[in-house]
Amino acid sequence: MRFHVLTLFPGMFEGPMSESIIARAQSQGLVEVNLHDIRDHARDKHRQVDDYGFGGGPGMVMKPAPIFEAVEHVKSSSSLAASTPVVLLSPQGKRLDQETVERFAEHTDLILICGRYEGVDERVRQHLATEEISIGDYVLAGGELAAMVVIDAVARLVPGVVGSAESPANDTFTTGLLQHPLYTRPTEYRDWNVPEVLLSGNHAEIDRWRRQEALRRTLIQRPDLLERISAGRLTDEDRRYLEELREG
Ligand SMILES: C[S@@+](CC[C@H](N)C(=O)[O-])C[C@H]1O[C@@H](n2cnc3c(N)ncnc32)[C@H](O)[C@@H]1O
Repeated sequence: MRFHVLTLFPGMFEGPMSESIIARAQSQGLVEVNLHDIRDHARDKHRQVDDYGFGGGPGMVMKPAPIFEAVEHVKSSSSLAASTPVVLLSPQGKRLDQETVERFAEHTDLILICGRYEGVDERVRQHLATEEISIGDYVLAGGELAAMVVIDAVARLVPGVVGSAESPANDTFTTGLLQHPLYTRPTEYRDWNVPEVLLSGNHAEIDRWRRQEALRRTLIQRPDLLERISAGRLTDEDRRYLEELREG
């Protein structure tokens, strides 16, 4: 999987992209993070990438030409599929969710455009980006952290990036539910004990307990997920258990 990031601050990616899972994925050749400095595509002698917004108002707007040319450069130099998503990171975009992350992971390439200042010229959104993605309802100073969030979430779904022991298949959202509680040694810590069932060695009972805890936790913390979960993901036993919980 190749990520092509267009940014004015490529240095921001150095630390996060060179640690832990993402660093290992790159050294194993499973993931590439290609950073492109938008300023390299500014054509005037001052290498200007932003300008005053038409109509007045505070803040500078990122010019369209360097962004268009940077994307065209990436497309022509890396032989990308025509269907490669061109993602504009923006607080005005569709909120990132696991479904979108899974869809991105099906592609071999992803282009990520990081805005700065007051934002990017509208023509980038209308005629260059194929989608606009927000990482939440708050405004960041720039799209770089948002791009890193997308890279982190998508890269861990690339086969081989996450070991089978930490398989993403049982993760929160992937199952349509929140994940069950997790415990490790010691069995007793400050008088708080690990639930007996987890020490029982009875795998059927453990699976049942985990499933019920996932259902309970989802009902309490994210009931909206249960409203949206597709019918086939809940068994009759799950439904009965949820009914019991709702009846209190
Ligand atoms: C200061 S913000 C611009 C906000 C813009 N003036 C507005 O009100 O919609 C600068 C850049 O940060 C990025 N950004 C800010 N918040 C974001 C979010 N929640 N998700 C993704 N990108 C974000 C975008 O790339 C944006 O162009």
